[in-house]
Amino acid sequence: MQFPEYRARRLRKNENFRRLIRETKLSVDDLVYPLFAVTGKSVKKPITSMPGQFQLSVDYIAKEAQKAHELGIPAVLLFGIPAKKDEMATGAFAKDGIVQQAVKRIKNEVPDILVITDVCLCEYTSHGHCGMLEKDSVQNDETLEVLAETALSHARAGADMVAPSAMMDGQVAAIREALDENAFEDVPIMAYSAKYASSFYGPFREAAESAPQFGDRKAYQMDPANADEAIREMSLDVSEGADIIMVKPALAYLDIICRAKQEFDLPVAAYNVSGEYSMIKAAAQLGWLDEEKAMIESLTAIKRAGADIIITYFAPQVAKLLKK
Ligand code: PBG
Repeated sequence: MQFPEYRARRLRKNENFRRLIRETKLSVDDLVYPLFAVTGKSVKKPITSMPGQFQLSVDYIAKEAQKAHELGIPAVLLFGIPAKKDEMATGAFAKDGIVQQAVKRIKNEVPDILVITDVCLCEYTSHGHCGMLEKDSVQNDETLEVLAETALSHARAGADMVAPSAMMDGQVAAIREALDENAFEDVPIMAYSAKYASSFYGPFREAAESAPQFGDRKAYQMDPANADEAIREMSLDVSEGADIIMVKPALAYLDIICRAKQEFDLPVAAYNVSGEYSMIKAAAQLGWLDEEKAMIESLTAIKRAGADIIITYFAPQVAKLLKK
């Protein structure tokens, strides 16, 4: 039998060969670390469904941002859990709202880390939906004004970038216009463009106390079965002025990340969401897989698919590992 001339194993023989031909390298430069801000002082409340993650009061959130900065992580992404929720999501755009306070505190104490804010209403509405309700249905155009007001209040507090995640049609344009009219034309928008109605957000909803009180988010977030529609969503956001487009979740949507990278010439972010984090943590706790290896493999796969930016709760853990 004539053996093939090419033997793929030649270049896999040892780690030095493998290093030489490795196509994808994770870097701390790619990472964004999500954090949850709560009211109060010296609060560090563990999130049961996300081992290693906490709800943090603004004093502690600044400390966490400092640690991230020391590890070389370029940016944090902030979520807020307000003391009170109401129908109109007033906590989302309050001048002294929880995210606004957290932004100010971090920019004061750790000026060199980028502060990105999630712009959505589900953490602030009593019903837990991402927009204004009328007869149990989320009103798109009424919500746009509130999202624009929220993004503007984040920029006023000092946010370096805003990240709208409500999946309302026209949200990027509405936010761009509000920012531009108020002299924040330099604040970029990272748009959650292809955000799916995913079960992998489960642990986050405990973390952010933002589960919808009735129904689900399928009337605004995308159907996991659709790929062409993700391209349409991204095209719209690009035309509305998005600076970075995002695919979320990441691991079950690597094909979407790949297409986003091929079809657009903007940076692509991928959100390695709470459920993707917690699955690895839980299996590792049971001794069913190696946590570090599973983490590195997942994040490398997200980058290999085409992500320029990876938003992940693993950020400090992986940054430490990359330093070694
Ligand atoms: C807000 C928002 C959610 C996530 C990010 N922004 C929850 C949701 O849409 O239900 C999920 C993040 C994660 O699971 O890590 N709308």
